[in-house]
Amino acid sequence: MSGGPEATVSRETNHDPSRSADHVPPNQDEPASGPYEGITLEDTPIGAAAQRASQVLHPGSVTLPKPERRRMLTIANQKGGVGKTTTAVNLASALAVQGLTVLVVDLDPQGNASTALGVPHHSGVPSSYELLIGEVTPKEAVQQSPHSEKLYCIPATIDLAGAEIELVSMVARENRLKNALSAAFLSELDVDFVLVDCPPSLGLLTVNALVAANEVLIPIQCEYYALEGVGQLLRNIELVKSHLNPELHVSTVLLTMYDGRTKLADQVAEEVRGHFGDAVLRAVIPRSVKVSEAPGYGMTVLDYDPGSRGAMSYLDAGRELAARTASTKAQEN
Ligand SMILES: Nc1ncnc2c1ncn2[C@@H]1O[C@H](COP(=O)(O)OP(=O)(O)O)[C@@H](O)[C@H]1O
Ligand SMILES: [Mg+2]
Repeated sequence: MSGGPEATVSRETNHDPSRSADHVPPNQDEPASGPYEGITLEDTPIGAAAQRASQVLHPGSVTLPKPERRRMLTIANQKGGVGKTTTAVNLASALAVQGLTVLVVDLDPQGNASTALGVPHHSGVPSSYELLIGEVTPKEAVQQSPHSEKLYCIPATIDLAGAEIELVSMVARENRLKNALSAAFLSELDVDFVLVDCPPSLGLLTVNALVAANEVLIPIQCEYYALEGVGQLLRNIELVKSHLNPELHVSTVLLTMYDGRTKLADQVAEEVRGHFGDAVLRAVIPRSVKVSEAPGYGMTVLDYDPGSRGAMSYLDAGRELAARTASTKAQEN
């Protein structure tokens, strides 16, 4: 990864568009004079917000490179309330709005990811539960989000709450999600990214997600005790890696709910960067009311308020995540 370790936070007050992949150079033909010489609308915070909002409102205007190999990320952290679900849906939306096809698999019985994507998930809807116990095919369970034709979701219903126990006695209990999400299904859907939203536990549902994916994305909240429990998560990841899924690795860490007004947030960010190094995305998700309001309207923040700091930070995170495909590839070659 290039660039310094500093966080790209709060674009409303601190936006440097030259660092954006979609930065459009100033129009040279335009006359400019006086103190504003050389400054274009995109250079101002409001201009940058307008540009991002326009990108969301006109999907397809910016296209991220398709990964050479489909990428599947499990979003895990057994701590509740750290931003797993928020990250799953907003990152998915950010990738979709920039031209990639994304499938979100909701593995949390609360079904909050399904809600935020505007996908029905009342009891009886074919869901991740029926998929895991082998009652439906993924094709029968998948739904398109009403907000984007590039965004799909296999929803979770409350029935999933019993799955943790039901799975225990099943054959290949740790491999059921992996086996269910067949390559044929994912290819037919032409999916570029699969994001799996995990429940706040390290039970069989999370293990199924860790077996199905190659990559783990750990969201870490910039608060007290941020790293509490992460050691246990990493040990579980190592166990799954050594016994069930040798390709599994923590590819991505995302700092969430960053509050720039507190010293604590910076200390946590520094500690996490010290621990996870380059896996930590430079984009940081600020604590933002818009982000927390969006699911109440069955929307991601990109649909709810495309110009907001929350939407911008997830767009940045999505771009960075997609760019890493290219850089990983470059290192391999
Ligand atoms: N960046 C943010 N700013 C403000 N509130 C947030 C942000 N990210 C998440 N939240 C809120 O925090 C709560 C927990 O987030 P959630 O994504 O559900 O966590 P998890 O899935 O890890 O339990 C939710 O109410 C959510 O709306
Ligand atoms: Mg959740």
